[in-house]
Amino acid sequence: MSNVLSITNLHVSIDGKEILKGVDLTIRRGELHALMGPNGSGKSTLSYALMGHPNYEVTEGSVTLDGKNLLELESNERAKAGLFLAFQYPTSIPGVTVANFLRHAVTNIRHPERKEGEELIPMREFRKEIKERMDELGMDPEFARRYLNEGFSGGEKKRAEVLQLAMLRPAFAILDETDSGLDIDAVRIVSEGVNKVATRDATGVLVITHYQRILKYIKPQFVHVLFGGRIVESGGYELAELLDAKGYDWVREKHPDAAKDEDELEPKPDLVKAGF
Ligand SMILES: Nc1ncnc2c1ncn2[C@@H]1O[C@H](COP(=O)(O)OP(=O)(O)O)[C@@H](O)[C@H]1O
Ligand SMILES: [Mg+2]
Repeated sequence: MSNVLSITNLHVSIDGKEILKGVDLTIRRGELHALMGPNGSGKSTLSYALMGHPNYEVTEGSVTLDGKNLLELESNERAKAGLFLAFQYPTSIPGVTVANFLRHAVTNIRHPERKEGEELIPMREFRKEIKERMDELGMDPEFARRYLNEGFSGGEKKRAEVLQLAMLRPAFAILDETDSGLDIDAVRIVSEGVNKVATRDATGVLVITHYQRILKYIKPQFVHVLFGGRIVESGGYELAELLDAKGYDWVREKHPDAAKDEDELEPKPDLVKAGF
């Protein structure tokens, strides 16, 4: 298993427009990091680029897992190398149950040489394991029989992701806006799940959020502010508290160059209203 995820001078463009302009970030196994930043600052762009989404073009810089170049790997190979990404907007897969999906995913991660159509991990072993993980996370066993994300509430989608995290046991997990659309009880339950899993497996976690509230439960040791496509501030948990109390205006004043870039990046207000 890998121990260090290093992002160095990462530049990423979408449709030829540069969104990330030199991001540097190092995460070690067992560390909890938070990436904060106003809407449109490029947080999701970073998570998509790390996972290898084809629309996000890396034009400069490197991403390595223990020195191994991640950028030359396909998305599924990145997952096999130990990277997990929980999307801001997970898609539903009608006809595939949570259990069935996880049995395939777990088999593929643990047996990277397996070809499509070859045997899955034995049912008994898998059942026992998923039951243990669900007990641990306080989940109803019935949940595993439902179709993945089909008709799930916001909280259920996020809990399904935490269950994935618990079963796949990646070295590094990136959780993009895991708290969006959740009420405060759901935020707490999901956070407790993440904490349990991260502690047990010494997962390196990057929590991406523009609110501080989830960070009250997932207490990160490191907090970074992404702004205008760069990390402009890094600190401890107190940085998240400062942002909660004062907002981002002081960041804009302190980093006028990045603020200039932010104007370019600012999403269209009507798109923001529509929830994008
Ligand atoms: N698929 C896309 N096509 C074009 N522009 C995009 C796309 N995704 C994001 N952007 C733009 O990239 C910038 C950063 O977006 P994003 O990474 O989603 O920010 P955040 O997650 O911090 O809110 C925004 O200006 C956004 O409009
Ligand atoms: Mg986002």
